[in-house]
Amino acid sequence: GVSSPGRGWFPQLATEHTRRTPVDFQIAVLAGDGIGPEVTDQGAKILEAVGRVFGHIFRMEYGDVGGISIDNHGTPLLPKVSDLAAEADAVLFGAVGGPKWDDPSAKTRPEDGLLELRTRLGVFANIRPVKVYPWLTDASALKPEILEGVDLVVVRELTGGLYYAEPKGRHETPQGWTAVDTMRYNEGEIERILRVGFELAQGRRHKLTSVDKANVLECSRLWRQTATRLSPEYPDVELEHALVDSCTMHLIQRPAEFDVIVAENTFGDILSDETSVLSGSMGLLPSASLSGVPVAGKRTKGFYEPIHGTAPDIAGQDKANPIGSILSVALLLRYSLGLSEEAVAVEKAVDEVLSAGHRTGDIADAGAYSVGTRDLGQRISDALESSL
Ligand code: IPM
Ligand code: MN
Repeated sequence: GVSSPGRGWFPQLATEHTRRTPVDFQIAVLAGDGIGPEVTDQGAKILEAVGRVFGHIFRMEYGDVGGISIDNHGTPLLPKVSDLAAEADAVLFGAVGGPKWDDPSAKTRPEDGLLELRTRLGVFANIRPVKVYPWLTDASALKPEILEGVDLVVVRELTGGLYYAEPKGRHETPQGWTAVDTMRYNEGEIERILRVGFELAQGRRHKLTSVDKANVLECSRLWRQTATRLSPEYPDVELEHALVDSCTMHLIQRPAEFDVIVAENTFGDILSDETSVLSGSMGLLPSASLSGVPVAGKRTKGFYEPIHGTAPDIAGQDKANPIGSILSVALLLRYSLGLSEEAVAVEKAVDEVLSAGHRTGDIADAGAYSVGTRDLGQRISDALESSL
């Protein structure tokens, strides 16, 4: 069978009864650009349905981020929006960026708002589960027999490496402009993300693939050494090291052999886009960014976003797949609010609507029946409300 994304990763959360009396939860909703607003609307709609069914109150506070914030306020992230995100129990995020703000010489970019939020919230662990829905294997570019049994999670380091380290920038030299990005990791940063990988693997199929480029990069050699050092603390987890280049190949040739993959920021960014094609569409996949491993009974602040981008070519046309955002809401319920029963209900509603044959264009056969963003979101919301 196919497991729900995230179920059983953290056994302590899956088994403990986490229901409690209704409480108010504060959710910052930052929809961003492109298809961000239309998919996030559907995510928010599902949250409201969960509130009605289970008797919770989700107080949603909206803020601009990314390109729209540059247009409205001259900066991709206002301090008050950053504060809103930091004070909320969780952040539901859409996507940022687009051709309008792509000028390489611009002083500020939409993506800067996202990168600043990640560090402000300290969400160093980005968790991207990849689920293959049996009734969607036709939507994937890979053969169904290769996809059989695929159930993996990419754990991406999110607040270090090439994205952030100094020096960074451009300067003029006698050879013309020179650009610099720096890959830097300290052992503490490496250790904490590897531990997330090991602990996830303990709640799953007990296999951890640590990805690096240790044949070339010093950061990778420290990474590999640290993974090897930690490994005896997790005797029930089989640790394997993989070079990032050959890992990209194996992910396409034998994806079912992977369980948990852990990688530094840039490698994880690339690998998680690659793994998303296994599910048939990037539009289906959620992500959770956390500041630590969630512990039962303790709320972990988190940042939740679909893994897809702003898809400017289809923005505003009611074509985007809202499931990435809706499943991000399920992760939000599970990890930040401790509401596992509610999370499972959302995942079940998605399963039900997909298995009934309703699809957005990205996962429908060419020329076949498909529905719009709002329609699919409404069907999932209805399925949720009628299931209980
Ligand atoms: C992602 C995106 C971002 C990243 C961009 C928009 C900055 O690609 O979340 O994977 O590279 O982290
Ligand atoms: Mn990416």
